[in-house]
Amino acid sequence: MQLLLFFILFEYVNPLKFLVYSPQFAKSHVNFMGKISDILIDSVHEVVMLSPLLDTSLKSAGTKKARVIKIPQCEEAQEYEDFIQISNAANAWTTGNSLLVFQWDAVFSAWISQCNATILHPGLLQSLRDDNFDVAITESIDFCSPGLFHLLKIDKWAVTDSFAINDGNFFYTQTPSIPAYVPSMMGGNTGESKTFYERFDNFFTFCFTIWFNERFFPVYDKMFRSPDIKKTDQYQELFASNSLVFTNSEPLVDFPRPSSARIINIGEIAVSSGHNKLNQT
Ligand SMILES: *[C@@H]1O[C@H](CO)[C@@H](O)[C@H](O)[C@H]1NC(C)=O
Repeated sequence: MQLLLFFILFEYVNPLKFLVYSPQFAKSHVNFMGKISDILIDSVHEVVMLSPLLDTSLKSAGTKKARVIKIPQCEEAQEYEDFIQISNAANAWTTGNSLLVFQWDAVFSAWISQCNATILHPGLLQSLRDDNFDVAITESIDFCSPGLFHLLKIDKWAVTDSFAINDGNFFYTQTPSIPAYVPSMMGGNTGESKTFYERFDNFFTFCFTIWFNERFFPVYDKMFRSPDIKKTDQYQELFASNSLVFTNSEPLVDFPRPSSARIINIGEIAVSSGHNKLNQT
């Protein structure tokens, strides 16, 4: 049904020109955005993918059909690549030290620097403006795109999540979360019914995630501050100005949660339709 809605939304209209912002930082995200781009092209739309390189080991922008504009990796992103390949890979699943989560600050710094390198890339903004895009799509995880779309004067844009909906999604969904019974994506290992302590733990993780992510908004605010962004427009407000949010969630198997008209679940969209026969074991 969700897939059908997605097609109805985009299929039976005039061909549109899409800008898909998809930084190459992790395979599942890149594949998800690539798959969406290819589906749009199969539905007669035109897609240009803007793909800043954060991790050069990925080797692909995930799309087989879209025109890809690659932005070279900046120096700080090179450090991120080393972190993700070496120390994070070695420690993430084995450590008992929860403070290691702050190693992720290296990821945020890389995103910020790569965003800066992207908007300053010679000639890029003008050539994207000349493309006259109708619509843009981005993921919520990298905060660069609302500012970028604003600079390009694209005011119809959608957010996607290649995972189920994130904790503290209010800044882009404008829809409340209910941590009392919806387990936090970043550490909720309980079901809907929880003991008092589990609820407290879930609420704490939920609040921590919001703080952890949103402390970087002022940096983006400053980076994109320009005469045509009104003083009252904080970055969160720019983020909230999206039209639709597509999540990689399947409501039949996901936890029940508040939703709104702007949230459309497109779970399974990136799943291959082919399958191998199960063997005996
Ligand atoms: C962006 O790059 C410019 C030029 O290299 C630099 O002066 C500025 O501090 C950078 N901004 C951020 C937020 O990294």
